[in-house]
Amino acid sequence: MNGEPTHGPTDETDPETTSSEDTTTGSEAAPLSPTAAADTPGHRLTAGLTIGSRVVVRYRLAEGAEAAATDFVGELVARNDDFLIVDTKTERVKLIRADVVAAKDVPPPASRPGPPHERVSADDLEKLMAKGWQALDRGGIGDWVLRASDGFTGRANSALVVGDPSLPVDKAIDFVEKWYAERDRPPIFQVHGERGFAVDGIPTAAALLERGYAVGGGRDDWQRVLVMTGPSAAVPPLTEESVPVTADAELKLDWLMSYAEQRTVVPGATEAVLTGSDGQLFLSVTDPESKRIIALARMAIHPGWAGIFGLWVHPDHRRKGLATTIVSAIAMVARENNMPAIYLQVSADNADGVAFWERLGFGVHHEYTYLARPTA
Ligand SMILES: CC(C)(COP(=O)(O)OP(=O)(O)OC[C@H]1O[C@@H](n2cnc3c(N)ncnc32)[C@H](O)[C@@H]1OP(=O)(O)O)[C@@H](O)C(=O)NCCC(=O)NCCS
Repeated sequence: MNGEPTHGPTDETDPETTSSEDTTTGSEAAPLSPTAAADTPGHRLTAGLTIGSRVVVRYRLAEGAEAAATDFVGELVARNDDFLIVDTKTERVKLIRADVVAAKDVPPPASRPGPPHERVSADDLEKLMAKGWQALDRGGIGDWVLRASDGFTGRANSALVVGDPSLPVDKAIDFVEKWYAERDRPPIFQVHGERGFAVDGIPTAAALLERGYAVGGGRDDWQRVLVMTGPSAAVPPLTEESVPVTADAELKLDWLMSYAEQRTVVPGATEAVLTGSDGQLFLSVTDPESKRIIALARMAIHPGWAGIFGLWVHPDHRRKGLATTIVSAIAMVARENNMPAIYLQVSADNADGVAFWERLGFGVHHEYTYLARPTA
């Protein structure tokens, strides 16, 4: 059968080299040269799929099968010119690209009933948000995601503790500490839980506290970060009175300069993280008199989700509806592009920010904290 399950470990870039031990499908596909493969509709359809994302692949079945095609839904773990490897709920399958009828990235699955912005699990939302703020240097241990970006932001320089690290917790922590030591960076762990969760109730966090790590690593804004979500449909639409908002797919210098006015940036790393997602928009409002940007945000684009990062309004222009206008513009793009849900992250100690999002109808999906040695 095409779409044979495979069970070997996979390399993220070359399924051929790592899965041959356990698979039999290789012989079923005539070896295709890269040029020939690139000419097949199946190859073109799968070219845009993102490794690590959840995908649905409609796949042609061999002649004589009960149906003409079947769907595989799961995480795309590897691909090359000839094959895709997808981890479905029950098995790992190796799919011949030439036999792909249709394929696309899809949102994370629902883990409970509710609207799209509520029904996703915290682990899945964390993994999605990591793609909205991609670190320069990424690694993994089991499900944990290791990120380093020359110190630009906690999110892009911490180990994301999600799911199973595939090793006992202490060994996994040793691995992470070594990974950061090799990069000359302090190890920082991002650990999440329900709203108000007890940090020492999370086994990884408890093990870190025993090693002398501190909640927040000595920073107030790292103690508790709220992950808030809301429906794009509920955000007020732009009106005739709304100030003009510029939305740019490219990171322009004036946007970056305004961003750098209010945040610590690391030249090189900042640009790479800001532009590192599969899709993003840079939004801004310019003061017609000074011609300077007075409000901005970055929108990360995902299947089914929009992410909002770095929303900021110049202190002289606050409480005039500029942030609301930018979020309205983001929500408009989201609605037009089949993204019913929006996420953002805001430090719990940022009362203004939290008040703003609550007023727009956003709620806390879950929370996270950073654990770092106080010296980090
Ligand atoms: C939070 C922030 C983006 C709000 O920008 P803004 O343009 O002033 O917001 P808006 O004028 O659109 O505010 C809409 C509503 O949100 C609420 N709100 C906004 N700022 C608030 C504040 N400081 N305190 C309480 N409520 C606030 C109010 O209900 C306000 O309506 P109102 O002015 O009619 O009472 C701005 O204060 C800012 O840039 N802060 C620093 C960066 C930041 O914290 N970003 C958000 C993190 S994700």
